[in-house]
Amino acid sequence: MPTITMLYDAPRWEEKALIEAAKRKNVTLKAIECKDQYYNLAQINRAEYGDIVLQRCISYFRSLHLTALLEAHGVKVVNGLHEAIIAGNKLLTTLALIKAGVPTPKTMLAFTPQGSMAALNELGFPAVIKPVIGSWGRLLALVNDREAAEAVLEDREHMFPLYQVYYLQEKVNRPPRDIRAFVVGDKVVAAIYRVSADGSWRTNTSRGGKALNCPVTKEVEEICLKAARAVGEGVFGVDCMETADGLVVHEVNNTTEFRNSVPATGVDIPAHIIDYLVEKAK
Ligand SMILES: Nc1ncnc2c1ncn2[C@@H]1O[C@H](COP(=O)(O)OP(=O)(O)O)[C@@H](O)[C@H]1O
Ligand SMILES: [Mg+2]
Repeated sequence: MPTITMLYDAPRWEEKALIEAAKRKNVTLKAIECKDQYYNLAQINRAEYGDIVLQRCISYFRSLHLTALLEAHGVKVVNGLHEAIIAGNKLLTTLALIKAGVPTPKTMLAFTPQGSMAALNELGFPAVIKPVIGSWGRLLALVNDREAAEAVLEDREHMFPLYQVYYLQEKVNRPPRDIRAFVVGDKVVAAIYRVSADGSWRTNTSRGGKALNCPVTKEVEEICLKAARAVGEGVFGVDCMETADGLVVHEVNNTTEFRNSVPATGVDIPAHIIDYLVEKAK
């Protein structure tokens, strides 16, 4: 039986559930807190990482750079560096989705407030402005008109340069919910509807969105697998929205949380992840 090493920075419900799932399956899983350690780029203790590494750091930048180091030394990491780079950046994800023919909201790229206003005029209001890297709905802005957009763009001009890569998107006309599907390897193991608790346009469960079971229909399965394949191979949370013309995928997440989805769906998502790792480690 292969051994798994799980890297984490702060243990959440998810990491504890993964440890429990491995125990139930008699799989050796070693959890390593990686935040306070240091690493020699030229040399790592290969044995410490077992047959496969599950990367579960909350910090995207921490996880990305540590994954790069481990992969450079031949360690198998889930998700891999390629997947982490693409899924961790909304612009790279959107490009991958477009290339793979996965329906995705109309999105524009600009680099200045002036360019962004021109793009927004073409998209029409209301529209959405998102940082290319970020999660939990943070720093996403729904702009209903020109004045609101100007205010957001002006703020962004005073931030770190990453926030001046303007990712501008049509506001999708959808019911007050979206869908999060869990892709593990080549299976969509579960899906939830996310309904915002306070009527907010952002449905993220981290913002209080409620998780309800969503049947994995043929349509959900097909589009989410295609979206995951567009990004690579591994464990993903695929976000999609229901439109009059069918589902559109707006995001593929690299390190997904599932504490609300397990009780809502009754699916043992951590057990699926452990099975996948055991298979991948062979
Ligand atoms: N183009 C859009 N139209 C309507 N709602 C959107 C759009 N983009 C995002 N949302 C809402 O905001 C939430 C967060 O957006 P998302 O792109 O997934 O960013 P994050 O990485 O922060 O989760 C979505 O789950 C959805 O509820
Ligand atoms: Mg999301």
